[in-house]
Amino acid sequence: MRWSETVDAADAFVFVMPEYNYGFNTPLKNAIDFLYHEWQYKPVGFVSYGMTAAGTRAVQMIKQVVTTLKMYPLNEAVAIPLRQRLVDGELQPDEGMDGAAVSLLDELHRTAVALAPLRSTAAAL
Ligand SMILES: Cc1cc2nc3c(=O)[nH]c(=O)nc-3n(C[C@H](O)[C@H](O)[C@H](O)COP(=O)(O)O)c2cc1C
Repeated sequence: MRWSETVDAADAFVFVMPEYNYGFNTPLKNAIDFLYHEWQYKPVGFVSYGMTAAGTRAVQMIKQVVTTLKMYPLNEAVAIPLRQRLVDGELQPDEGMDGAAVSLLDELHRTAVALAPLRSTAAAL
């Protein structure tokens, strides 16, 4: 399946993203920039990872980008501090991360359902 078809077929997204030098990385930006209409009126949640800030600064930064594409970034998020949660190369989630993931997916579903009518009217324009 082509990238455009994959994104077009989705109702919602979770971006799993690292933080580099207080920001998001270029492969993610390139993947976003490659398309436009396919992103519109869809929610996006974030699972970030990194060292000191667990990727949270990169998430705040990417929110500005996705709103330009009429995407709806969620407040609910999972932030993974690698130093504490990566053991022998394996992710060891704690209860807080598990709870945050459930909240993120619940909100993603609620928002995707609410935005679906907007997508159908946008497609008709
Ligand atoms: C050059 C460089 C800059 C980094 N900057 C940050 C940073 O600003 N904040 C942070 O939390 N982690 C930072 N990290 C840690 C990365 O987020 C971490 O290594 C992560 O595993 C990179 O993800 P990737 O291997 O999937 O690309 C940095 C790592 C490198 C090598």
